[in-house]
Amino acid sequence: MPTQPHQGQIAGTQWNPSQYLKFSDHRLRPALELLARVPVTDPSLIYDLGCGPGNITRIIADQFPAATVYGLDNSPDMLTKAAAEPSSIQWIEGDLETWSPPELVDLIYSNATLHWIPGHGELFPRLVASLKPGGCLAVQMPLSWGMESHRLMRETLANGGPGGASLGTEELRTAVARKWVEAGEYYYDLLVDITATLDIWAVEYIQVLEGDDPVLEWVKGTGLRPILNGLDDAEREIFLAEYKQRLRAAYPMRQNGKTLYPFHRLFLVATV
Ligand SMILES: C[S@@+](CC[C@H](N)C(=O)[O-])C[C@H]1O[C@@H](n2cnc3c(N)ncnc32)[C@H](O)[C@@H]1O
Repeated sequence: MPTQPHQGQIAGTQWNPSQYLKFSDHRLRPALELLARVPVTDPSLIYDLGCGPGNITRIIADQFPAATVYGLDNSPDMLTKAAAEPSSIQWIEGDLETWSPPELVDLIYSNATLHWIPGHGELFPRLVASLKPGGCLAVQMPLSWGMESHRLMRETLANGGPGGASLGTEELRTAVARKWVEAGEYYYDLLVDITATLDIWAVEYIQVLEGDDPVLEWVKGTGLRPILNGLDDAEREIFLAEYKQRLRAAYPMRQNGKTLYPFHRLFLVATV
């Protein structure tokens, strides 16, 4: 089901499960660290929002075998990949911009997804309101807006064309410039009066990546998707060539052939 274009968001962002899964080990660690902080012990109803290819949903279902577990996503490609491996998980297509569960839930878990949804001032209270008493909302989002890789995305769109020209439409550049995730204090103020406990923390992972242009390969699976989808073929080629050079300068390969990619993430665990 295609997502309706939304102010500040790009219509028709296509997800590619195999590109995303290239870094599944690195992406798994924060997901597990989030799950480890979930305080509910015997949930009966769980949703994994933006489940993607479902590898984390399966870990959640293994941890809580008595629970009914739903994996929800709006990408048919991701859901097809998720459903390819048999499990008791129910894969459902839905759009988080408007989603609410049909009944109250024990655990809403969402890893690396809610930054794609605009309007956190409405979204987070809506999710908290979907919890049973004692239920938990557990969220991890990248704090990528200020990172070099993402700053260079915006800069390359602004001046990476021939002779320093901009690339793409004004609409695309505006959408990419949107700050996806607020500071932890924002979520504290938003949720403190409607939750019983609220734990918010941020982590910087110094990720050790391998191969040629690994930061480019990383962002191709996530943050670069709106740009890759939003440029025509000719501009995409120009963008990628220029962006690759800028990333190489920002993230030089070490002597041992590895590349370090410092990555910031925000975690939030709330109960009601
Ligand atoms: C970076 S992936 C994260 C996948 C998985 N949670 C993980 O940690 O590996 C983000 C997922 O959010 C989904 N997504 C983005 N916008 C969405 C929306 N409006 N409604 C539902 N899912 C959405 C994408 O299709 C994608 O599968």
